[in-house]
Amino acid sequence: MLKVNGWSSRWASLLLLCLAVCSLITPAVTVKHENFKTCDQSGFCKRNRAYADTALATSNWASPYSLDAASVKFEKGILTGIVSKKIATTGETVRLPLTVAFYESGTARVTIDEERRQKGDIELRHGSKAKKQRYNEAEKWAVVGGTSVSTGAAASKDAEAGTTKIVYGPASIFEAVIRHAPFGVDFKRDGETQIKFNDQGMLNMEHWRPKVDKPVAEKKEGEEDVAAEADAEDEGTWWDESFGGNTDSKPRGPEAVAMDITFPGYQHVYGVAEHAGPLSLKESRGGDGKYSEPYRLYNSDVFEYEMDSPMTLYGAIPFMQAQKKDSTVGVFWLNAAETWIDVTKSTTAANPLSFGIGSSVTTQTHWISETGLLDVFVFLGPKPQDVIGAYSELTGYTQLPQQFAIAYHQCRWNYVTDDDVKDVDRKFDRYNIPYDVIWLDIEYTEGKKYFTWDPMTFPDPLGMNKQLDEHERKLVAIIDPHIKNEANYPIVEELKSKDLAVHNKDDNIYEGWCWPGSSYWIDCFSPKGREWWKGLFRYDKFKGTAKNVFIWNDMNEPSVFNGPETTMPKDNLHHGHWEHRDLHNINGMTLVNATYEALLARDKSEDKHHVRPFVLTRSFYSGSQRLGAMWTGDNQAAWPHLEASIPMVLSMGVSGFPFAGADVGGFFGNPSKELLTRWYQAGAFYPFFRGHAHIDTRRREPYLAGEPYTQIITQALRLRYSLLPAWYTAFHEASVSGAPIVRPNYYVHPGDEKGFDIDDQLYLGSYGLLAKPVTKEGQEGQDIYLADKEKYFDYFDFWTYEGPGTVTVAAPLETIPLLMQGGHIFPRRDRPRRSSGLMRYDPFTLVVVLGHSGDAEGTLYLDDGESFDFEAGASIHRRFSFVGATSTLMSEDLAAAAAAAPSKKAKDYLKLMEKVRVEKIIIVNAPAAWKGKEEVEISEGLDGESAAARKVTLDWHPKEAGKAAWAVVRDPGVRIGGGWKIGFA
Ligand code: GLC
Repeated sequence: MLKVNGWSSRWASLLLLCLAVCSLITPAVTVKHENFKTCDQSGFCKRNRAYADTALATSNWASPYSLDAASVKFEKGILTGIVSKKIATTGETVRLPLTVAFYESGTARVTIDEERRQKGDIELRHGSKAKKQRYNEAEKWAVVGGTSVSTGAAASKDAEAGTTKIVYGPASIFEAVIRHAPFGVDFKRDGETQIKFNDQGMLNMEHWRPKVDKPVAEKKEGEEDVAAEADAEDEGTWWDESFGGNTDSKPRGPEAVAMDITFPGYQHVYGVAEHAGPLSLKESRGGDGKYSEPYRLYNSDVFEYEMDSPMTLYGAIPFMQAQKKDSTVGVFWLNAAETWIDVTKSTTAANPLSFGIGSSVTTQTHWISETGLLDVFVFLGPKPQDVIGAYSELTGYTQLPQQFAIAYHQCRWNYVTDDDVKDVDRKFDRYNIPYDVIWLDIEYTEGKKYFTWDPMTFPDPLGMNKQLDEHERKLVAIIDPHIKNEANYPIVEELKSKDLAVHNKDDNIYEGWCWPGSSYWIDCFSPKGREWWKGLFRYDKFKGTAKNVFIWNDMNEPSVFNGPETTMPKDNLHHGHWEHRDLHNINGMTLVNATYEALLARDKSEDKHHVRPFVLTRSFYSGSQRLGAMWTGDNQAAWPHLEASIPMVLSMGVSGFPFAGADVGGFFGNPSKELLTRWYQAGAFYPFFRGHAHIDTRRREPYLAGEPYTQIITQALRLRYSLLPAWYTAFHEASVSGAPIVRPNYYVHPGDEKGFDIDDQLYLGSYGLLAKPVTKEGQEGQDIYLADKEKYFDYFDFWTYEGPGTVTVAAPLETIPLLMQGGHIFPRRDRPRRSSGLMRYDPFTLVVVLGHSGDAEGTLYLDDGESFDFEAGASIHRRFSFVGATSTLMSEDLAAAAAAAPSKKAKDYLKLMEKVRVEKIIIVNAPAAWKGKEEVEISEGLDGESAAARKVTLDWHPKEAGKAAWAVVRDPGVRIGGGWKIGFA
């Protein structure tokens, strides 16, 4: 959040206050660039960019890496060999063990390590305790599945000379052609090259070397030394590097890993979250409308982050997808150190006289990490879902959250007393505004000591939790990883006496500054540290918490106010004597992992109905999706931040971590009422939907906005609540397939090139619900891009649009531009309630949207929304389909296999839900032939239960100008969990 450089927290608060007040006067605040490195200021990035420049500028550039043909072995799906690096200046050869693994899923993985040479060769600088190895534990944290080795992968006999070819993947349509000299790999699908490694010769593994203290060469005046300089590497930052007054000692010397990855014929690349910029990544090596810095991944607390920038933010997902017409491929660069990625594009004309027709764009990327292994996974698609699915199989699927977690959250820094919380809770009820969760920021603690309550302001937390629970509401309390260094604080005493904190480079406890002032940091890389952390959340330890209390982990990049780039020194030491530099980007995930385990353990100690943990994190890495939700950090109450939130949330979705949202209303500054209202309308389409505000902003709970704003905001919230069954189903889909919850155009229409860079509109789940929230001031109409030849209908009044092309939708303040694509059926629950928990037994509405084909389908997933009983089959999973030819709507069981031998929990759940019915079926674009028809015929019992056929009324409404005809069946009485059929003809 803010760099305080050793000031007391009182001063920090004053400064914050000033900043907030100043920001009210001049809302356009900008990031302090001088606090963060550019590539040029990061030694290894600069060296590797220079290396790339040399490779590109040298006409006969030969990459000095070659695979020793004699070393190559292929056995049981895994190829091994030795890549040699020739060092021109010394003639030495460095041996780099290579592994290329082929997995059953069709994913391939290329790993290059560095062989330890004779002792002494890589001896660290005197006295350092850092581990003398390339960091190889990123996998341990990030990868949880999908690595069973392929039995079908086979070495091909028709490999060209100087190459080894492995055929693999589903139906053996993938190939990896491994070129020996210079070393490189081409990945092909159906014979066509999709991805190339080291095609541009930028592979560079900075090998370990002993430090030699060179005498500074004396140069005589006028003497030129051009040849020697061109040859020599820039050694200035090999052994230490200073930035912003901090010096980073580098006991192992230079050890970066870098490589170019080319996507031939691919025009767009997405991913490498988190950045505040467009979904389709921009070129990064300068020029008009391009960035001049690479995309950076180095988890940081970036104060007042800027828009449209490749600067690093709070989290890192080094997973990239490339898109061309009808083809998606991807790579996952598994490395936890500081990483930079350059993106460039080149156009090749099909032939010189074609005037651009048939030309194709190729995207080149250059990945540069400070330390660790070269470890890259390759996904060959061909569909977006194939790539995201394979990546998710490796790094884990989104946790299926509790239902409350996908409803609305009310947060601010801070609700100041327990009475304040209770008052806000009552006011939501008084104004009939639904909400599920209220949040407590750092001020609830006694002097920023986590796991305590300020006795003056929160004398009765249990009483507060009890009031919330009356309407099934929850509390989320913040717990940060910095532990206050203060006498008589038992938590810090234990942290120190058990030696569970991160160490500095001298292997003593590391002390830095954060919210509490002087602090220590729990080291969640340490199994003992995690075990201890786990115990802290027990109800008898963290007194004042109850079953409806969940956790927010913030500042876990980690944010250190007086540290280099507002984080920890890279030469700090973690468990196992790994340097912080090796694992920085994973650090935040380890905290959330420990908190998740703690919540599980807390619950189990109760030995009753176990509920799913909920943890919100600011910092993340590949795999964090397994543990909870993320938000995009400290944004501003300004229109550009609202606008940027949509591509950011979409980017998280295609990066395998779809449970994402931005602070609604904007964190810093005070939003105008119009901005606040528009933000709620957009937030209703974030998977994680939370209003939050900085301590120095004015109160902005929805009921304070005044009319018409409060009413309009309430409508947006009600829309979210009524669509919760659709959202929950989309979350379920994400939890089993990795599919994004809100989806960009390219994901839904991978054949439509025109839509590949569209990132301001989104589809909710698989439902064809297309929203384009208004993100500009005073805007009353919205252009929406329709990719396909299909009918789309306005969600609220059934106004009809026809794709493909761009249509304009009226969008006065009270309206959210939201269309329904023909061909889908989606579930709703329309009864207004105070919280989602109170909707548990509410009846459903099904909306059937008929398009050109006259057919439609959709699914519903439902369970108790809180426990793990769904793992034992306690759920309802239905497929609804409408067949135009016979005019019938059917409900079928998607869990039929499980239903054949149901567990006790499954049976109990179905019993519990037996009375839950469909109360309304709306058919949009109902056939004209239904005119005059007054009844539909219902047959129940398709799942084997006994029931008689009966008739209920059908209301048919003719077309009005511009709008679709529609029909409604009220109270068909069919069970949501049962099999039934309704005949309309
Ligand atoms: C950080 C968080 C913000 C929180 C504040 C105080 O700035 O990003 O959400 O309110 O810290 O805890």
